[in-house]
Amino acid sequence: MTLLFISHVDDPKEWQTELRRLLPGLKMRVGPQTRNLDDIDLALVWAPPPGELRRYPNLKAILSLGAGVDHILKDPRLPKGVPIARLVDPMLTELMSEYVLLSVLRHHREFDHFEAMQRKKKWDYRFPPDRSKRRVGVMGMGVLGTDAARKLVAAGFPVLGWSRRQKRIPGVESYSGTAGLGAFLKRTDILVCLLPLTGATRDLIDAKFLKRMPKGAYFVNPSRGAVVVEKDLIGVLDSGHLAGATLDVFREEPLPKSHPFWTHPKVLVTPHVAAMGYPYSAAPRVALNIRRARAGKRMLDLIDPKTGY
Ligand code: NAP
Ligand code: GLV
Repeated sequence: MTLLFISHVDDPKEWQTELRRLLPGLKMRVGPQTRNLDDIDLALVWAPPPGELRRYPNLKAILSLGAGVDHILKDPRLPKGVPIARLVDPMLTELMSEYVLLSVLRHHREFDHFEAMQRKKKWDYRFPPDRSKRRVGVMGMGVLGTDAARKLVAAGFPVLGWSRRQKRIPGVESYSGTAGLGAFLKRTDILVCLLPLTGATRDLIDAKFLKRMPKGAYFVNPSRGAVVVEKDLIGVLDSGHLAGATLDVFREEPLPKSHPFWTHPKVLVTPHVAAMGYPYSAAPRVALNIRRARAGKRMLDLIDPKTGY
């Protein structure tokens, strides 16, 4: 029984060290593999090449190296019926909430504006805005959205949350489904997207969607690029309806040099760095799932292939 490891961003040595600490004797091979394909029973992956996971006839579970699983589900030849677990990790959650808080505060305190004024050597005095009047709307109230929303509440912002199903989170006004979307957007001054990329969320955030927010609103996206129609976002920024955006994820990554986001005065680009699962923190949950899968038990953090998250 051997664990297959595939990722172009994660360090296999670090993962092996941390996993072996918890599962002594664990056999791990870095893929793609060309020999002894029958030995592979589990795969720990980030963005495996299309068709790759189908090559292992005894594969009984797939473990994602990311919280999102779109990098696995996009494979049209993914083996059917093999359970997929996503990555849930306290450090990753912590990093994401930090990114969200920083981005929200930067827009709230108009640092984007002051950065632009500094380049012009302009002393543009403005009264500091009141945090209790800046409503932050979080789309996607899962592991990451819920933690970010709680920290935004603790920081003193009025917080709204939108998800597929209604939630009860202290201090957060909950909205759900298509029926709740209009009221949620109308009351959101800074929108934070923490939705997974699925059939239902792809291209969700277009011009019509963004125009439902109040004029002067901000947009923060550390989820997935394809949730957003990028040319519509640029249009809404250019028209002045949106005041600014912080973007960590893009339809094409790395963001092509010719992309207008790079030079847009109202956009801050970060290179998909909002959060990640470091092995020293994430390995215990992965090891637990390896044990469960090998014992024939249901893994934790399973995704539903029908909804895609
Ligand atoms: P999660 O726990 O699965 O939560 C997903 C949330 O989205 C749930 O609240 C779910 O609603 C909601 N949702 C899904 N489809 C929806 C729809 N059609 N309409 C309304 N709400 C919908 O996921 P997570 O761990 O919080 O991660 C969220 C995403 O963050 C990941 O999928 C990944 O794309 C992204 N991410 C990015 C980075 C980065 O570095 N940029 C790092 C980690 C993760 P219900 O609660 O009702 O099911
Ligand atoms: C990163 O983007 C993740 O999904 O964990």
